[in-house]
Amino acid sequence: MKEYDFVVIGSGIAGLSFALKVAKQGSVAVVTKRKGADTNTAWAQGGIACVTSDEDSFELHVRDTIEAGAGLCNEPVVRTIVTEGPERIRELMSLGLQFDQREVSGHRELDLGKEGGHSKRRVLHVRDATGKEIEDTLLGELGRQSHVDLLENHMAVDLITAAKVGFAAEDRCLGVYILDERTGEVETIRSDRIVLATGGCGKVYLYTTNPDIATGDGVAMAWRAGAEIANMEFIQFHPTCLFHVQAKSFLISEAVRGESGILRNNRGEDFMKRYDARGSLAPRDIVARAIDAEIKRSGAKCVFLDITHKAPEFIRERFPHIYETCLRFGIDMSKQPIPVVPAAHYQCGGIKTDVNGVTSLPGLYAIGEVACTGLHGANRLASNSLLEGLVVAHRAAVASKHAGSGSKRHISLPEWKSGNVQDVDEMVVIYHNWDEIRRLMWDYVGIVRTDKRLQRAGARLRNLQREIREFYWNFKISVDLLELRNLATVAALIVDSALNRKESRGLHYTLDYPETQDKQFKRNTILRRD
Ligand code: SIN
Repeated sequence: MKEYDFVVIGSGIAGLSFALKVAKQGSVAVVTKRKGADTNTAWAQGGIACVTSDEDSFELHVRDTIEAGAGLCNEPVVRTIVTEGPERIRELMSLGLQFDQREVSGHRELDLGKEGGHSKRRVLHVRDATGKEIEDTLLGELGRQSHVDLLENHMAVDLITAAKVGFAAEDRCLGVYILDERTGEVETIRSDRIVLATGGCGKVYLYTTNPDIATGDGVAMAWRAGAEIANMEFIQFHPTCLFHVQAKSFLISEAVRGESGILRNNRGEDFMKRYDARGSLAPRDIVARAIDAEIKRSGAKCVFLDITHKAPEFIRERFPHIYETCLRFGIDMSKQPIPVVPAAHYQCGGIKTDVNGVTSLPGLYAIGEVACTGLHGANRLASNSLLEGLVVAHRAAVASKHAGSGSKRHISLPEWKSGNVQDVDEMVVIYHNWDEIRRLMWDYVGIVRTDKRLQRAGARLRNLQREIREFYWNFKISVDLLELRNLATVAALIVDSALNRKESRGLHYTLDYPETQDKQFKRNTILRRD
């Protein structure tokens, strides 16, 4: 059995920032199920929202965040993250990351982007590939640390808790089972500080802007271990995912609308003005719902994002990644509008934590998209998530410093027991179930919901979960099976949370209860396994 002072599961901005902070305090394992850079972070285009200009203020950033959050943001958490942001950004820059700058009256200053819901320009970016630059910078730094093992192609199976090994009265996290994908063996790793930084769950939906790794692993594991899960009904749909038969999950950044891109319907109308005075740059929940309505009303397959009024040189310089990718699919965005549709993008709920990443299960921390700190409320303000990842990773590193398990170290951890059969015939059932979950979530638990559709989804998911449980205990586990099990769990949590909220608020919109009901529902939805 291996043992580490800290085990970090996930290698995006939050996991890597945490690992770098604690690398001097003890041994660290960073566990990641593909390559180190296969993360949501690496796909982030827009940037990091942070107050850096004299024309901006913490107060305005706090206000914009709370307004987008539709009554459910935790204000002290918002203030902490917003005000501690600049210091964390300086640290990131000290590692060599260079945000884009521009020339103003003879001197250089940060070039700040604008996105929906922001009253000021405040998004730091590296052209349209900010996440990739951050990921490369942090991974480069991690490679220089001698106390950190980066375990690629290793997938966490389940957390080991005191309750699971017979000490229910004083439950805490004691370790984790990890599948080594190359050998197929499951290793037991002991650690009294496990950090979940596994990102979100976009793959639970048929259409998503997320990479394939986004299968809700952290929330599912935390749920099985008995930690509290909050606000899973609030799934953010990004309004503009490229619509093209061969393009899978390609985001067209909100920064395109920030630079005056206009959404048009199939008749060429700037339709957003009919839905919100802020037009194409209204908050995402409003824009995604408006596009959904426009598509349903017209029977068209998509709407269009038009930035052809800007100079082609500006477009190529500011959005090189988007420009090149669209061109590969035969779309020259400097000459023609880009076909777009909404797609699942961000999980605003997650494992309930405080602003230090502390969960309800001692020894377990959660940071980044997998966590619900209270920053996003019912709708995340664009580009606030990388900021949250940085700030909360730092605070979790401080909080976990002296938080070892002490008296629980004598408890021995059982080795993993696995079913032995790998029946290839059954693989088809795994893929079928995977597809079924993603389609039913898209059709029944999408941008606009009803109780009837949610109940139907819930019933089907319970059947699927029963089938998956059978596989899980009878067959040798694989990444596909583990991801399927996690997707089904997270899908059920989204449905149960949505059924609990008999109102519409932020990203949760239901035709049965179209109004916001502050009296009854201005509160978080908390689920915990019995
Ligand atoms: C985008 O570039 O539109 C994504 C930014 C975000 O989701 O925060």
